Amino acid sequence: EDDEDLEIRPPVVTVMGHVDHGKTKLLDSIRNANVVAGEAGGITQHIGAYQVWKEHEGNERAITFIDTPGHEAFTAMRARGAQVTDLAILVVAADDGVMPQTVEALNHAQAAGVPIVVAVNKVDKEGANPSKVRQQLTEFGLVAEEYGGDTLFVDVSARNGTGIDELMEAVLLTADAGLDLRSNPNRDARGVAIEARLDKGRGAVATVLIQTGTLRVGDSIVAGTAYGRVRAMTDENGQAIAEAYPSRAVQVQGLSSVPRAGDTFLVTEEDRTARQVAEKREAAERNASLAKARKRISLEDFM
Ligand code: GTP
Ligand code: NA
Ligand code: MG
Repeated sequence: EDDEDLEIRPPVVTVMGHVDHGKTKLLDSIRNANVVAGEAGGITQHIGAYQVWKEHEGNERAITFIDTPGHEAFTAMRARGAQVTDLAILVVAADDGVMPQTVEALNHAQAAGVPIVVAVNKVDKEGANPSKVRQQLTEFGLVAEEYGGDTLFVDVSARNGTGIDELMEAVLLTADAGLDLRSNPNRDARGVAIEARLDKGRGAVATVLIQTGTLRVGDSIVAGTAYGRVRAMTDENGQAIAEAYPSRAVQVQGLSSVPRAGDTFLVTEEDRTARQVAEKREAAERNASLAKARKRISLEDFM
């Protein structure tokens, strides 16, 4: 791909951290801070991801949040070889400090080479000790800027909404400092399924994250072993959209079956190709599990 075909795309962010440290509350708070006037009242439907906008150095910048639990996003998706996140927000409750799953989360992110922004949450609480969190995390290589390191820590209260704007700023600063967020929107889309289910009325619905290219209604796609033509596409507000650009997550209808989180998808020139790719993948999976079963049997034969 030529350099000139590449355009900047929004960072894709996941929120990770110890149980009850406020991941869900923070995601809600970020979304609410961004609700466009007139949209208030929470018409958002859950599609597993959403995009927010932030004014940054004179530009309107988008950030995509994946709101499936960070651990799942990393483990299930990485198990299938997909990396969906560019950047992780590590949530640490300021009253609790660093806990086992805090360390697990940062290990996941560091192993994936994903930069981390630390949200020191619950600073509204009595007993909150945000500097202790900074001190604790230096042990894991996350040294706050104010201590001479290069990790951005932001004190927030997901409950009160304080610090959310600064957190978005920190995400964009970190993304711009360490990530090459360019991709080509002018080609057939490719990406990853991040969530999918069977809907009574609509059949298989899958939320897909576009990583490169543009996805359009009418495109033939294959996602894992599912295939079909995109019959309809909706955003996180339930609005029908015709096109989706890199880093956008959209819910698509029209697949033959329900893909798994982490399945990659791609657009094919013809319907028939999508079906053939899906069938090949299915056969390969069948063979792999047969081979596994045979291996198990032959091992047992020797025991
Ligand atoms: P799991 O998904 O179960 O791991 O939890 P979580 O990390 O998503 O935490 P969640 O958002 O559910 O918050 C856990 C509890 O902490 C809830 O009772 C929240 O209301 C509370 N909480 C979250 N953020 C804040 C905050 O900034 N201040 C205060 N005081 N409470 C908070
Ligand atoms: Na919780
Ligand atoms: Mg939660």
